[in-house]
Amino acid sequence: MSEPSERTSGWQLFRRVVREQESCWPHFGGILALSVAAAPIALLTPLALKVVLDNYIGGAPLPSGLAWLPGEGEHHALIAAATLILFATFSHQCIAYIRKLLRAWTNESLVLGFRARMFPHVERLSLSYHDEEGPSDSTFRVLFDTAVVPALMLDGLIPFVGSLALLIAMVSVIITTSWQIALVALSIAPLMLLASWPFGRVLRRQWHEIKELDSAALALLQEVFSAVRVVKAFGQEKLETERLIQLAKESMRAKVQVARTQGKFDVIMGTLTALGTLGVFVVGGLQVKNGNLTLGAMAMAAWLLAQVYGPLQLLIGQIASLQSSLASAERAISLLDETPEVIERPDARALDRAQGHVTFRDVSFSYATDRRVLDSVSFDVTPGMRLGIAGRTGAGKTTLMSLLTRLYDPTGGAILLDGVDIRDLLVDDLRQQFSVVLQEPVLFKKSIAENINYALPDATREQTIEAAKLANAHEFIESFPDGYETIVGERGMRVSGGERQRISLARAFLKDAPILVLDEPTSSVDIQTERRILEAMQRLMEGRTTFIIAHRPNTLASCDRVLVLEQGRVVQFEAPGSVSSLEALMSEMAADAPS
Ligand SMILES: Nc1ncnc2c1ncn2[C@@H]1O[C@H](COP(=O)(O)OP(=O)(O)O)[C@@H](O)[C@H]1O
Ligand SMILES: [Mg+2]
Repeated sequence: MSEPSERTSGWQLFRRVVREQESCWPHFGGILALSVAAAPIALLTPLALKVVLDNYIGGAPLPSGLAWLPGEGEHHALIAAATLILFATFSHQCIAYIRKLLRAWTNESLVLGFRARMFPHVERLSLSYHDEEGPSDSTFRVLFDTAVVPALMLDGLIPFVGSLALLIAMVSVIITTSWQIALVALSIAPLMLLASWPFGRVLRRQWHEIKELDSAALALLQEVFSAVRVVKAFGQEKLETERLIQLAKESMRAKVQVARTQGKFDVIMGTLTALGTLGVFVVGGLQVKNGNLTLGAMAMAAWLLAQVYGPLQLLIGQIASLQSSLASAERAISLLDETPEVIERPDARALDRAQGHVTFRDVSFSYATDRRVLDSVSFDVTPGMRLGIAGRTGAGKTTLMSLLTRLYDPTGGAILLDGVDIRDLLVDDLRQQFSVVLQEPVLFKKSIAENINYALPDATREQTIEAAKLANAHEFIESFPDGYETIVGERGMRVSGGERQRISLARAFLKDAPILVLDEPTSSVDIQTERRILEAMQRLMEGRTTFIIAHRPNTLASCDRVLVLEQGRVVQFEAPGSVSSLEALMSEMAADAPS
């Protein structure tokens, strides 16, 4: 999805961006009106020049259109010219000020709106998307690409139309002064357009490459910083630095290439401009010499011309400089167009609290590849039952639970909760039915209390403490100087594995869901800690349908049934006592663990 699609032309993309920004159309209109209003004002300064040269120095009477201006006698023309300049400057600065404010407001509110839509959208995207793309690229798109999207309108179309208005105003004045000068001056416009044509496409490709590289650098940094222990332990700082420098070098090369492309563009435009100016001086000089043009008129035309080339270059240059924003817009919008794979049906049913009857009916599943991870899995779990799940690493145990909580949808068959296909339920309601405790519990960079309350943000302190007590976590939390207000690191680095696990158990107690999913919750803690966790887990399982993936026989012994998976197939579904070769399997799993 990150490749620039050949099918979306710049124009299509641009129209899409304009549509996305519908809420700010009135603001665009306001900025545009101010830009257009500025055009005639820009004509006043060269007019003042003409007045000074022809009417003050040359002594010609002021044209009737300007005779009303203040001033009298000998110096009337000079005072009139000064008035013109003062008025032009003042009104130009006023307009510029208002436009700047309006532009900033519009820009920021568009960025805000874009991010506010992108972020929940990305959160809703399927796990398959996140598995594949990783966190950094999405971060880059939501944070950085969105920030430049409004530039397409604010630094693109609007100045474009503004420059066009200015251009038209100036050209019409030049034509009325001397059509010969206008002809010479404008003959280079088509040349400019022609010369700029090939640059746009090249620049957009180059910008795209730069963004991919920057996003990759961000991914590298994120990876290294979040695994800094491993990097240090293996002494690979140098290797990682080299990887980063390699990326930075590629990015540098790409940026220099962009500068080169833009530089070439500027040289071509500059040369054409100089040729135009040259032509005008020759034609204008001849006309003044022959008496067909006054000196002031020629000076005004030359002044105007110098300014015509400004908007003209801007008009054409925008085609090139906007390619960066266009590349970003493409990345942002393609993320917005990514559809979540787990889709809620329009007629999805609400579910308050499930009884906890779970049926897998011929469930098959594969990840992106064709290899089947689950193959016709069928079983039935009645409310309140404890199901132990065993099997070697890679057998598909975690996948089975991911399907139950609808992180993915099965590729075949169906999963029923209380007799209803889980795809017919509101996704939020379905997820409310599960408390999930993972092998590697994730803690957010917040206080312990906030981490426990994650499922129930408005829980009272009493509820939090109650949950922590049930999870055998209260004691160690109290022993911290800040108690429940202790901030745990981004991945809970400041608390040990066993403590982290008990905080996540407290979270599960607080959520009080009818179905419990425990995915090898004790596989990465020592026996001592495990005992404390098991004790809490027994309490948590009371009265709930429980799925527990475990690799120690003592954990499975208290289950009503044990399901053994082998390469995605159910090979046994028995009471723990009757599972054949359970001990052997367990010791193999223990050897594999943690998986
Ligand atoms: N997100 C994923 N994308 C692709 N393949 C995956 C993904 N997660 C797991 N797998 C593969 O699916 C198989 C089952 O994985 P998993 O359910 O995690 O096994 P278990 O929990 O039993 O160890 C493994 O072969 C694993 O490599
Ligand atoms: Mg697993």
